[in-house]
Order: sequence, then C-alpha cells, then structure tokens
Amino acid sequence: MKFFIDTANLAQIKEAHDLGILDGVTTNPSLMAKEGIFGEEAVINHYKTICEMVDGDVSAEVISTDYEGIIAEGEKLAALHKNIVVKVPMIKDGIKAIKYFSSKGIRTNCTLVFSSGQAILAAKAGATYLSPFIGRIDDMNWDGMELISQIAHIYSIQGYETQILAASIRNPLHIVKSAEVGAHVVTCPLSAILGLLKHPLTDIGLAQFLADHAKGNK
Ligand code: E4P
Repeated sequence: MKFFIDTANLAQIKEAHDLGILDGVTTNPSLMAKEGIFGEEAVINHYKTICEMVDGDVSAEVISTDYEGIIAEGEKLAALHKNIVVKVPMIKDGIKAIKYFSSKGIRTNCTLVFSSGQAILAAKAGATYLSPFIGRIDDMNWDGMELISQIAHIYSIQGYETQILAASIRNPLHIVKSAEVGAHVVTCPLSAILGLLKHPLTDIGLAQFLADHAKGNK
C-alpha cells in the first residue's frame, strides 16, 4: 500500500519524506488556503516546489466545475511536472473530463467520493485514483471503512484498474483498516502517519533495554 501525505505544508511534507516511506502528496484548495497560498501563480509555484521535494505522485486539484474549464486547467497542471496527477471532483463534467484525460494519458484522482456508484463511474471513465473520504463519512455516523471495503470488492471482481486512495484519514487506525480491506493508497495527515509508531510497550521495552545496557557501563 502506498503512503501519500495529505497537506500543502512544506515542513510536514519534508518530515514525512525524510522518514523514507512517502510515495506522494495530495492537496486540495482548502489545504492550500490553510498555508496562505492564494492566486494562480502562487499555487502553481507551490505545486512545482512540492514536485521537486517528492519523487512521487502529487495531486493538484482543479477549481473549474465545467467540462471546458476542467480540461483547460487540468492540461495546464499536468504540464507543470511529470509527477502531477490532476484531481477532479466527482461531478458529471468531472467524469467526462476524466475520460478525456485518460484518453490523453493524463493521470487523474477523482475526489469527493462517497458511494460505490460514484466509484464505478470513475473507474469506467478511467480514473487513475479514486478518493473515498473515510473520515467525513464517519463524521456523519456512517461507516467509511465499509465503503472502502465494498469498492475494493467491486473493483476486484470487475477487474477495474483504478486505484483506491483512502482519503480523509483521521487517525492511525484508519490507515491499518484501509490496508486490511484492500485500499491501494492512503493519504494521511502527518499525525496519523507518526501515530503508527506509537505503542507503550515499545517505550517501556526500550527504556528497560537502555537501563540494562547502562548497568554494564557503571
Ligand atoms: C483528499 O485528497 C482530501 O484532500 C482530504 O483527504 C480531505 O480530508 P478532510 O476530510 O480531512 O478534509
């Protein structure tokens, strides 16, 4: 399973990259705004910087919601760097655009996915990645992981090549469960990735080992 980090924060991207386990980055307009990145030029420069930092897929989201606008924006984004994956919302014109991008060899990430029906449409259109938003579904008191599991089953029996990119991850358990039910990729905040490291028995065990080792040095 691939690990992407879900942020536009360069320090966090660097920290995850330095761990040696990072396969890519996802961003969205809200994450860009959170870093104070506004305006086309600033946004484009930020994508270029991220692409130079990480040798992996970098999702860059279109703002347009009409077919022509999505195509124009997506082609411009894709031309920025070989790492760019064009992130397209799950709407009617988005599906048409994904089909177009797929025919041109431009990779896509279909975002804002909340049902298996949407997942089937995106796969039929040839999306490279599909982003079901686990955390936002859980927030509604539904089961985000059940959705990932159902999509994984459908994609497997239908032979769809679209990769399931579990998104809106909130915690380490979401990562473990996503791996268990067959997600191909998880995109996570740095806190969830680092959360995987934690176990009190590791801390207790290490403290004991170091203490025992120190006895020999007295
Ligand atoms: C996916 O690519 C999105 O950027 C992201 O995972 C959304 O997560 P959120 O629900 O925490 O905003």
